[in-house]
Parts: sequence; C-alpha cells; structure tokens
Amino acid sequence: MNGPDERLDAWEGRPVSAWARDWDVPELIVLRRTASTNDVARALAERGAPSGTTIIAEEQSAGRGRHGRVWRAPYGRALLLSMLLRPRLRGGDEARTGTLPLRAGLAAARAIDDTTGEDTRIKWPNDVLLRGRKLAGVLCEGSLAAGPDAFLVVGVGVNVLLEAADFPPELRTRATSLRLALGRDVPRGALAGAVVARLRRSLAEVRDLDDEEIAELARRDALRGRALLDEAGDEIGIGAGIARDGSLQVRLSSGIVRRLVEATVRAREDDGTGVPLAGPES
Ligand code: BTN
Repeated sequence: MNGPDERLDAWEGRPVSAWARDWDVPELIVLRRTASTNDVARALAERGAPSGTTIIAEEQSAGRGRHGRVWRAPYGRALLLSMLLRPRLRGGDEARTGTLPLRAGLAAARAIDDTTGEDTRIKWPNDVLLRGRKLAGVLCEGSLAAGPDAFLVVGVGVNVLLEAADFPPELRTRATSLRLALGRDVPRGALAGAVVARLRRSLAEVRDLDDEEIAELARRDALRGRALLDEAGDEIGIGAGIARDGSLQVRLSSGIVRRLVEATVRAREDDGTGVPLAGPES
C-alpha cells in the first residue's frame, strides 16, 4: 500500500512488531501519514478493537487539538500517538469521566519525565509544559456510556525533535520541543513506550482523582496562584488548584471559589504558562 495511510513495518530503527511486543499491546499500527491518529483509533474502537490498540503516525494531515484547534508537526519530528482504552465503567461512573483528561495529562507528563529526567508542569486540564512552554498536548475522545461498547481514545502529541523554525513566529516564545529545551535528541521509541505504559496504568478505570494524583497535580499545577484570564482576556480570578472531580478551582475577588469544568483559561503574565493555542502551528 502506498496511499495516505501506508503502514510502516519498521519505526525508529526496529520492526514495529518488536515495539508491540516490548510494550505488550495487542496491536500497534505505525502510519507514514494519516488524517488524525485519533480518527484511526476511533474507527478501530467502533469495530471492536481491544483495549491497548495503539496508533502512531509520522505525519497528520488533519491533526487536531482540544476545542477543534489545529495540531501540526513536520514529518517525523513529533510523537503523534493515540491509544484506545476501555476503562472499567460501571453504572453511575459517567459522572466521573471528567477526570479522564486530567489523568491522561498526568500520565503524559510522567512518561516525559520518566524518559528525560525532567520535571514537567501541567496547565489545566492537560497541556504539558517544560520550562514554562507548551511541550505536549492531550486530546481525549470517546464514547463513555456504561456498557460493553464504551471506549476512550487518548491522543498525545509531544514535540520531540522540532527546531525553532518549525514553530510559527507567534508560538516561538510559548511552545518548545525536547530538542530545543534540552539540547539533545530523546529517542521517540522510549518515549512512546513510556506513554503507552503510563496511559494504560492510569486509565484502567473511571473514578475520581485519588490522593496521590491530587498531590501530584498540585505540585505540577502551572496555574496555581496565578491571575487567570478567560478566552476574551478578562480576568476571572486566581488559580486555586484542581478539585477531586478534575475541575479547575478559581478564587474570585469576592473570595468565593468557583469550579470550571470545561473552559480555556490562561495565566495573565505572558511568560508561556498560559499558552492559549493547541499546537505548534495552531
Ligand atoms: C491539544 O493541545 O489541544 C491537544 C493536542 C493533541 C494532539 C494529538 S497528536 C496525536 C493525536 N491525533 C490528533 O489529531 N490529535 C492528537
């Protein structure tokens, strides 16, 4: 096959089957180019593919971020990975699905740290920041009504080998790559293996955030104590941490703490922690 969804037999110097064996996933598909790895994973999910099925692409023609934003990266320079998961879901758990994107972001941050020895931060709900700049984004999609067909697709994009010129000028001070921040090339195979392991471990079930996750999110929270702005640029309050249900707590000037479930916020200081855009070329 030599079409847009051409499958690769080898990736990062090894047969794809060897990576699949190492990571213990039921199926690993590596594509030269596709529209979006999340779409491929979703189509497989709807055809009954098992939990753990993983898709990687070297390039996406319609990669997307949260809120329908565009996510683009040049061929072979990012890790573009989607994993199909079927977390245990019992009746009543639907109310707790809001924690999944937070736990997916935490898993991505931990995987990056496992591979690099760095200490990444999280901008709620799940952007991963390194040294104040956006390094990775996570997009969770799926169908999570309790039942045998429920599934979650977690798409992770990590800027691994991008150069400054790969980012549009307006993002150069707000986004980064591992190559730019660390001055070295992190192997994408090791990083992908860590992402797969962390996602699978963190997202086996639907539940509230546990004490360890709450503590870790508090430590990594890039918005805590910062003046926060909404999408229109209006100040909404001060970041007051992430609640057990995954919502962002914001202390209003009245002292009342409001919880945001679905929102785009950024920190007022324009130092990179408030990256309002999704990806390298949004
Ligand atoms: C965001 O920052 O808003 C999320 C970005 C998620 C990008 C990844 S790349 C792999 C997967 N496929 C997509 O189309 N999006 C996710």
